[in-house]
Amino acid sequence: MSSPIEINSIYPPDRLVIPGLYVKDLKGVLVPEGLIKDRVSKLAEEISSKHYPNDLLAVCVLDGAMRFFVDLLYNEHMLAPVTEVETLKAKSYEGKESTGKISISGFDFSKVKDKRVILVEDILDTGTTLDKVTKEILVHNPKCLEVACLLDKPSRRVTPVNVDYCGFVIPNEFVVGFGLDFNGNYRGLKHICVLKEEVYRTEKK
Ligand code: XMP
Ligand code: MG
Repeated sequence: MSSPIEINSIYPPDRLVIPGLYVKDLKGVLVPEGLIKDRVSKLAEEISSKHYPNDLLAVCVLDGAMRFFVDLLYNEHMLAPVTEVETLKAKSYEGKESTGKISISGFDFSKVKDKRVILVEDILDTGTTLDKVTKEILVHNPKCLEVACLLDKPSRRVTPVNVDYCGFVIPNEFVVGFGLDFNGNYRGLKHICVLKEEVYRTEKK
């Protein structure tokens, strides 16, 4: 598998197309839409070359990974047959802070038995969420389990987690856009953007 792309610079928000409503809240753009699109296609190609022609069960970790999940699975480069799609809800964040306690709901884990499973997550932060979800899947005896994650913030890791397909390694910034939200806002931004600190300091959790 290819190594993730390391992102170290932030583009000023006035240099790319961002809806005017959001510009004042953003420190800048970390991963522009075009780069996300190309990298997601590459991950689709890599998953396909490993698994084609075997059937896959893809599981999306809601809510943040929904956009990545759709772009990855319905990608023109995804040739492996994804014959089953499922979702589960994992909640760890309150506002900008990880609570460290994960609640998982909405998924019947017994469905993974004897299946080739790809778990799709938006961002790997402390690692608590993926650690808990992958352990729960493995208890139910899948044929194999792989993890695809769009973003990784390694500087925040508390629990080590193995990721098979990773899009980008990013600095320790709170990011929004491309499905990632802050208290339900900013999901619709096409680029992955950094939120200004004053936004999460002033907004009620
Ligand atoms: P852990 O700490 O369990 O966290 O690895 C993973 C979950 O936390 C959310 N998360 C973020 N959400 N911007 C977001 O919108 C971020 O910068 C961020 N960092 C972590 C996310 O839901 C992920 O699944
Ligand atoms: Mg998530």
